[in-house]
Amino acid sequence: EPVVAIVVAAGSGVRLGNSSAGGHGPKALRKLSGVPLLRHSIDRLIAGGVDRVVVVSRPEFRKQMRATLAGIDLPITFTDGGATRTDSVRNGLRVLEGVPPVILVHDAARPLVPAEVVSRVIAAVRGGSSTVIPVISLIDSVRAVEPHGSRVVDRSGLRAVQTPQGFDGATLIDAYDHLPADTLFTDDASVCEAQGSEVALVEGSVLSMKITRPHDFLFAEALLQAGLA
Ligand code: C5P
Repeated sequence: EPVVAIVVAAGSGVRLGNSSAGGHGPKALRKLSGVPLLRHSIDRLIAGGVDRVVVVSRPEFRKQMRATLAGIDLPITFTDGGATRTDSVRNGLRVLEGVPPVILVHDAARPLVPAEVVSRVIAAVRGGSSTVIPVISLIDSVRAVEPHGSRVVDRSGLRAVQTPQGFDGATLIDAYDHLPADTLFTDDASVCEAQGSEVALVEGSVLSMKITRPHDFLFAEALLQAGLA
């Protein structure tokens, strides 16, 4: 029963500004401990049980990304990204052969995802959940901003959502085939939910943080150097 991972790596990285954190060029090719984020992510997906990978990238970086994945002994397919993350995932789904029983979708920008989280997501899909997300509780107090002032929100009822998100293949493909044109989705579980899927939660990890701003590289590098990730 193959597990396919679609790894989205076609973002613009605007929030890195003009910093040279982790090197230069697209975020997925910037490095932690000398290894590009894309490679970290894919190595961890494989360690967690993935056995086919689709990389969604900007066409101009495809060659470099392929070089970065040299030596990986399982099938890797490339396709081009789109204007939004949702478009990029849809492009990834288009190059799949048939309907894989389990599809994961992972942000290349979450390079330190623990293999245990990956396998937990896969196990939940295999156990019968059609849409599975790894989540963590919130550290900070949270407030909702309103037209006049703000109000506190009970953080104990809130979770931050990570990737890889896991899906029964037919459910994810069908949901993307019926994507509403006017809605902005920031993840894939919400695409499935819009088609009526129930979303199952499993425990994520603080190590799966999305590398977004320059200081995230420093934090991630320190975790790696200390052997904590
Ligand atoms: O922008 P955001 O933080 O949501 O990006 C999450 C992931 O989606 C990143 O790994 C990024 O490369 C990817 N992405 C993409 N295509 C886009 C936008 C984002 O593959 N058009």
